[in-house]
Amino acid sequence: MIEKIVVLGSNGQIGTELVTALRRVYGESNVIACDIRRPDYDIKNSGPFEFVNVLEKDTLNSIFQKYQPTQVYLLAALLSATGEQNPKLAWDLNMNGLLNILDLAITYKTAKVYWPSSIAVFGPNSPKDNTPQFCVMDPNTVYGISKLAGERWCEYYQQKYNLDVRSIRYPGLISWKAAPGGGTTDYAIHIFHDALKKGTYASFLNAGTELPMMYMDDAIRGTIELMDAEASKITIRSSYNFAGVSFTPEILAAEIRKHIPEFTLTYTENDPRQNIADSWPRSIDDSFAVKEWEWKPEFDLSKLTLDMIENLKK
Ligand code: SER
Repeated sequence: MIEKIVVLGSNGQIGTELVTALRRVYGESNVIACDIRRPDYDIKNSGPFEFVNVLEKDTLNSIFQKYQPTQVYLLAALLSATGEQNPKLAWDLNMNGLLNILDLAITYKTAKVYWPSSIAVFGPNSPKDNTPQFCVMDPNTVYGISKLAGERWCEYYQQKYNLDVRSIRYPGLISWKAAPGGGTTDYAIHIFHDALKKGTYASFLNAGTELPMMYMDDAIRGTIELMDAEASKITIRSSYNFAGVSFTPEILAAEIRKHIPEFTLTYTENDPRQNIADSWPRSIDDSFAVKEWEWKPEFDLSKLTLDMIENLKK
């Protein structure tokens, strides 16, 4: 069967790299990039692109009708920090965007749907270290609330309507190709840009703030591996815990100093993102992903640091 894959939110930090990876596997013309904004040169010139707002049902419907997708990836969302600046919009986009896609996937018999969740589904009363798949979840950001509700909807549609929907709780994703989209973990990207440009960085998260992170190459590979896995192996239909590496700003800075010895790290004060970070896990237990679809990250801290610096230098 020829796959037809629609990626909604194709211009974002994940979409930019996912579209490229999927086009390599499934062929350029079979992966339709969709976003509300004009795409960058690469995505537009390597295959089909459509302007889509995931809150406009008629446009979405015409996309499903035109392409009859076998797989849909819904990446359009407001992240944790931007979500707090506009809570109602974050809820509307993150929740109604998802429900629109789940309903259309049923109408058009889409074989598989992918929707990302986040470590933001955990909250102040979740265990901080090696946070398990199943535990207390009391997110206190609109982003986290919408992701947790979205997870419940995904599982509900799978159980009620037999929709093959799959999901991963991404940690902070580190990448050099596209800019991050307003998250709490974005410091771990900005730090590389400033280290190379200015030799110094003022972190908006405090020393000692340990968060789960992952290199984008691992995240893209893991996402495609989950989507390729036998449906019978996927027992979690809410969203899988997913782990790469965990570190603090000062541990990352020490690693950067191995390549840029004069690099200095300072800290800003009273950034609202600190409270968000404090409510999230320090590390994640991803044993379900490991056991059920053989997840294994390839990038540790030293490998991702080297790769970021090499690519950003170019
Ligand atoms: N990187 C995201 C954020 O910080 C977590 O899902 O919002």
